[in-house]
This record gives sequence, structure tokens and C-alpha cells, in this order.
Amino acid sequence: MRQKVTVVGAGNVGATAAQRLAEKELCDVVLVDIIEGVPQGKALDLTEAAPIEKHDAHLTGTNSYEASSGSDIIIITAGIARKPGMSRDDLISTNAGIVKSVTREVVALSPDAILIIVSNPLDAMCHVALEASGFPKNRVVGMAGVLDSARFRAFIAMELNVSVENTHAFVLGGHGDTMVPLPRYSTVAGIPITELLSEDRIAALVERTANGGAEIVSLLKTGSAYYAPASAAVEMAEAILKDKKKILPCAAYLQGEYGIDDLFIGVPVKLGADGIEQIIEINLTAQEEAALKKSAASVAELKKLLQTLG
Ligand code: NAI
Ligand code: 2OP
Repeated sequence: MRQKVTVVGAGNVGATAAQRLAEKELCDVVLVDIIEGVPQGKALDLTEAAPIEKHDAHLTGTNSYEASSGSDIIIITAGIARKPGMSRDDLISTNAGIVKSVTREVVALSPDAILIIVSNPLDAMCHVALEASGFPKNRVVGMAGVLDSARFRAFIAMELNVSVENTHAFVLGGHGDTMVPLPRYSTVAGIPITELLSEDRIAALVERTANGGAEIVSLLKTGSAYYAPASAAVEMAEAILKDKKKILPCAAYLQGEYGIDDLFIGVPVKLGADGIEQIIEINLTAQEEAALKKSAASVAELKKLLQTLG
């Protein structure tokens, strides 16, 4: 039977994710947006590309939720994106309202779905979706670490002039300035980059990774990154649809793991048919642990801010 993924928000990230899902022939795709004609137009355009791209995925664009019924996965990208001068956190009050209403709509028709949250500020929006859905914590997962790690991998590959396929990287923590790239766990063909690059060069790549989103915003000027974010969300969806048990850094709701309570934060998880099937606790140095705690503290501030917004 065909699997179904609904992508809410047919903007840059949502439409690109729909394209990648269809072109990989992973599932049928329902694209939902509030702007009349946009999801319909993008779904039709993608459908017309299908004979050339050689896939038989069905794409539906809509301004309502009926067609999303019975989805296996819902990817939520609805909301506003950053413009130059804005931080991800500046988006919180607008996007909290949008993510809350969208989550209620989708879960009513897809009570067994897994939610992949993309809208920013990411970790805070995961809290909104967990609460609005009433879903168990394994079925709400945030996309950030896969993107941040892919950026780190791309920079490592450029620095060492090696294939990106030889690179592996872990970026933990919140999706913000306090994210925690982990050079000790970042490798090229299995060799930690700490053995391949000087401390100064690693520090420069870490800095570029932490500012990766802002770097794209300052270039695009009218919005934020979407090709890599869409790829990251689709890698997570694929792991779930194919029950791959893939270890990926994702925002997960921690209850005691890493000494952190009741907070979404980026950590390595095992993604499979049940969503987050395991939270993996890796050994951290005192310095890495302190950086993760600092990042958690900034997510906790946003969670508090959400409570004041109601
Ligand atoms: P975009 O502005 O291109 O698209 C957002 C879409 O959401 C628009 O088409 C808009 O009409 C739609 N929308 C707004 N309210 C809606 C509602 N109530 N129901 C359905 N659709 C609604 O923005 P883009 O670039 O696609 O980014 C989307 C979100 O993802 C932003 O919040 C952005 O900050 C975030 N993002 C997060 C990343 C991450 O790593 N977690 C990476 C990239 C973007
Ligand atoms: C990014 O990291 C804006 O969160 C988005 O590109």
C-alpha cells in the first residue's frame, strides 16, 4: 500500500520537501497551505514533472485538510521564515499560533501519524506540537540536527577536499546560536577531524556551522535556507517510512537523558517506524556537557516565553 506524507506549508521548505519525497518515490504527498492556489499549483507542476523524473508518486495540493487523512507522517513547515536582522527566536509568537492550529487540524485526521516539525524556533515549536497533538513523545520529532550536521559535513569536505560521502558529523543542542557541533564525533572515513585539522581550523568550521542559517539569510535577503532543510526533513521521513532504525541527530523530548528534563533538544536518536525508537546517550567531555546544558538553558527560556504567550 502507498504511504502518505502530508507537508503543511507549501513555501520554500515545504514545496522542496514535497519534490524530494516524490522524486525519491517514497510516498504520495499532500501539500497544504493557506494561500489559495499555491499548494494546488505546486502539486500540479510537480505532477507534470513526474514523467521526466520517472516517478509515480501522487501529489495533491489543497487549502483544507481532508486529503491529509490517514497520513503516516506530517511535516510541519508552516509559518514565517527569517529575514536579515531577525533571529529564529523573533518568529516565536507568530509561529506558535500557526503551529498550534495546524497541529490540531492534522492530528484530528491522522491520529497515528508521526510529526516532523520544521517551523522555527524549532525546539520551541516542538513543544507547541507535542502539547497541541497530545501525541506520545516518540511521535513528535524536530528537524535541526540533520541540517546542522550536514552543513558541518559540507564544510569539512570543502576544507579537506574529500567526498562528502566520507564525512560524518554530529551537531547537538538547540537549533540556534548555542548549538553544539562535536568535532570529536565528526569523522572523515572514520578518522576524527581532531586528528586531521588544527584546533583553529576546527573552531572556524564550528563557527561557520553555528552561523550556517544566518549565512544563507544574509545572501538570500528575502528568506532563509530551504534546499538543505528540505533534504534533512526528507532524510528523517525516509528513515521512518522505511523503518531504517537510522541514527540521526534530531530534536527529541528529553526526560532525564543527558540530565535534562522535559525539554526538546537535539540529541542522537534512532528513527524507525515508531518515530523516535531510542534516545542515544553518548559520552560527553565536561566542556561538551556544559555547552549542551547552556544550549538547553536557552531552549528552556523559549519554553517559558511560550507559556507567557498562552
Ligand atoms: P516560506 O515563507 O517559504 O513558507 C511558509 C509557508 O507556510 C507559506 O507558504 C505560508 O503561506 C504557509 N503558512 C503560513 N501559515 C499557515 C497555516 N496556518 N497553514 C498552512 N500554511 C501556512 O518559509 P520557509 O522558508 O518554507 O520556512 C518555513 C519555516 O521553516 C520557517 O519558520 C523557517 O524558519 C523554518 N525553517 C526551519 C529550519 C530548521 O532547521 N528547523 C530550516 C529552514 C526553515
Ligand atoms: C536555518 O538554519 C533558518 O533555521 C533555518 O537555515
